[in-house]
Amino acid sequence: MKIVLGSDHAGFALKEELRANLAKMAEEVADFGTFCENSVDYPDIALPLARAIAAGEYDRGILICGTGVGMAIAANKYPGIRAALCGDPFTARFAREHNDANILTLGARVIGPGLALEIVETFVRSDFQGERHSRRLQKIAFMEEQR
Ligand code: RB5
Repeated sequence: MKIVLGSDHAGFALKEELRANLAKMAEEVADFGTFCENSVDYPDIALPLARAIAAGEYDRGILICGTGVGMAIAANKYPGIRAALCGDPFTARFAREHNDANILTLGARVIGPGLALEIVETFVRSDFQGERHSRRLQKIAFMEEQR
């Protein structure tokens, strides 16, 4: 399992905390920044991470900003990305099992580090169930081609 992390300044502290724990769950944990609490624009982090996920360089991406909303909006603009903003483990599980989400977004100003870690663990350990869900994802992929 190869995981890539990214955050803006609002998500920086949570990203640092999660990285230490993710090392136990993944063979590789890459970090696309940001690397300090100076203000940055979340699309500047979301774009290279989304590109790397879409290219198959990593199995899962995790993007963190203040609410998780900006990162989700930005990442989902990239073809092949299915980014899910999750605030609980149940949603994280089904984002993987039904939606084959390849990026998890988190709101560092919304949830605490303990809940964030549970969400991340669930997201990393849950697998896509295929079958009827594949048909639905094919319809989403078709929507991408309509641009
Ligand atoms: C930064 O202040 C904040 O707007 C950003 O982290 C994020 O919450 C945007 O969606």
